Amino acid sequence: MTGATPRILVAVIAAIAAFGAGAARAAEKVVRTPSMFDPASTPAEAIDSYTMLVVAICAAIFLVVGGLLAFAVVRFRARPGDEGREPPQIYGSNQIELAWTVIPVLIVVILALVTARTILDLQKDERPEGWLAITATGHQWWWEFHYPTLGITTANELHIPVGQATFLDLESQDVIHSFWVPQLSGKTDVVPNRTNHLWMEAREPGLYVGQCAEFCGTQHAYMLLRVFVDTKEDFERWVASQQEQAAVAAAVGPGREIFENTACVNCHTVRGTGARGRFGPDLTHLMSRTTIGAGVAPNDRASLVEWVTRPDHLKPGVLMPAMQLEPARIELLVDYLVSLR
Ligand code: CUA
Repeated sequence: MTGATPRILVAVIAAIAAFGAGAARAAEKVVRTPSMFDPASTPAEAIDSYTMLVVAICAAIFLVVGGLLAFAVVRFRARPGDEGREPPQIYGSNQIELAWTVIPVLIVVILALVTARTILDLQKDERPEGWLAITATGHQWWWEFHYPTLGITTANELHIPVGQATFLDLESQDVIHSFWVPQLSGKTDVVPNRTNHLWMEAREPGLYVGQCAEFCGTQHAYMLLRVFVDTKEDFERWVASQQEQAAVAAAVGPGREIFENTACVNCHTVRGTGARGRFGPDLTHLMSRTTIGAGVAPNDRASLVEWVTRPDHLKPGVLMPAMQLEPARIELLVDYLVSLR
């Protein structure tokens, strides 16, 4: 049930898109182009086969109807000598009437059954041995990821183990967002005061990108998602390092003091310190992430200095205010931030 033509078309479009995005990503590790036609997880595969079946049926209908139309136009066109002559007047055909009633009904029944089966597959609730639970919370404009069974909270970059069913509870802190990593699962809305569910089971390790797919305000387009599908060993190593308390290095004491005595602590958490804010991302292991600001900039010293100095320069509309610190104090603060490994 895989129509070759739509796949080729999609491959061409994906190649053009990849060419544009490729330059920016070339330096990073294996990033999969976010195409829903290149599934890498069980639910995404179900959506892909379903889409291909619907496209194939619609293409067949188009060819039959278009072919008959073209045939009738050519075969029964006006010819020289036809002027002034009425075409033969006929009454319809019961057989044809029956055929074009019954066949569409059958097609609709098939589409309805396949749709219902795919929806049930996507909403399955039976949890296999060793499943992983994650709560993803949408905020304007970043993602919070909490692993309730592992005691980990991180932001914007999700880590999941390859080949293991992962069930996400999707919640929103403010407005409606939508969680979408095309290769791993279907797009699912993230709605305030409601918990939606989604699952994925990635087949191959790699970095899968996605983004918020529901307009949620100024920075909707920069509410990016990265999902690192790790091997079992890499995932265990990541979990162990995330479970540690924040690093405490004496050398960055002055920066830590600035952090703890400005408004930073109202919005951010650093486990093991007095900073327990929940409004912004958890910074306990800030430097384990590759980007900041939900994907607007690489997570390096220069971007962090820029971010703390003028957050709305990197991300216009961001809810984090500029702290109005002198440059020397910002350097000290960033010394502390980059020590949070
Ligand atoms: Cu969140 Cu768009």
